[in-house]
Amino acid sequence: MIASAYLAAEGFEADLAEELRRAGRRVSTWHGRLALSPDPAGPAAWALDTWTEPREIAAPSVKAAADALRALQRNWSAYLSAHHRRGALIAERLPPVKARPLVFPEPAPASHLGAWTLLAPDRLLASPAKTSPFVHGEVAFVEDREGPPSRAYLKLWEALTRLGRHPAPGERCLDLGASPGGWTWALAKLGARVEAVDKAPLDPRVASMPGVTMREESAFALDPAKEPPVDWLFSDVICYPARLLALVQRWIAAGTARNLVCTVKFQGATDHDAAVAFAAIEGAVLFHGAHNKHELTFARLAP
Ligand SMILES: C[S@@+](CC[C@H](N)C(=O)[O-])C[C@H]1O[C@@H](n2cnc3c(N)ncnc32)[C@H](O)[C@@H]1O
Repeated sequence: MIASAYLAAEGFEADLAEELRRAGRRVSTWHGRLALSPDPAGPAAWALDTWTEPREIAAPSVKAAADALRALQRNWSAYLSAHHRRGALIAERLPPVKARPLVFPEPAPASHLGAWTLLAPDRLLASPAKTSPFVHGEVAFVEDREGPPSRAYLKLWEALTRLGRHPAPGERCLDLGASPGGWTWALAKLGARVEAVDKAPLDPRVASMPGVTMREESAFALDPAKEPPVDWLFSDVICYPARLLALVQRWIAAGTARNLVCTVKFQGATDHDAAVAFAAIEGAVLFHGAHNKHELTFARLAP
């Protein structure tokens, strides 16, 4: 019996496996990057997508498989790690799912999307519900290849899209570890006022954008209790997770940042204890986005 399935990003299967093990959720088998579990679905930061209602369905023919899926609902995305040819024939008989790149800050699609795979040529695993509105949990954007000085802005766009919120024009943002300025660029484009904090300089084109000021300081030298309140605190600082955790806890204790969005970066082995500590913060959202490398995005938004 399969009660849930978790899709890891390529190369992050071991992190997902360890997270599930620590949460006491079993993995009966892996189907490509999909961990199949006999236990009910629960939070999993390392899953791009979680299938919350999987069921096994006999599929004696291509037509029978497509009919069974259509009988459940309209919109389906396929995750195929085996039986590709047969899977493609089934997919052809289903309404096409348009995975159109988003134009940030347009919202994530609201339409309902399920996911299916072929466990065997004649056996479907289909989940009418999943946690991500995107195919394979991967959001794609119409990219800006001219403006931002680094591709890190895509990670921020993904985080804000998943959170369903972003800074409004005029809101005050602190961007810790801002250089060369991908995040600052994205925030300034939204019309926010951004104080970029880094010992390294911003790209001059970003530094001269309206609303951007630079503070050549260490993120850890700021005293949250003495800083004027900010609407958003962002951090993409490279540091050990425990150090970032202490920084985040200081800002939360001071109550001077309404919303926080931070990258928790891992060097070498993943610090799962730190990930658990971030997830345990009241109101925490913790996820591994499609644009994240060996890191998690932590967020805590104002209610
Ligand atoms: C991954 S980069 C940030 C990329 C940036 N978010 C962007 O979109 O272009 C990490 C940055 O953290 C900065 N950094 C490292 N230690 C720092 C500290 N103590 N205070 C502020 N920035 C720091 C580094 O100088 C580096 O620019």
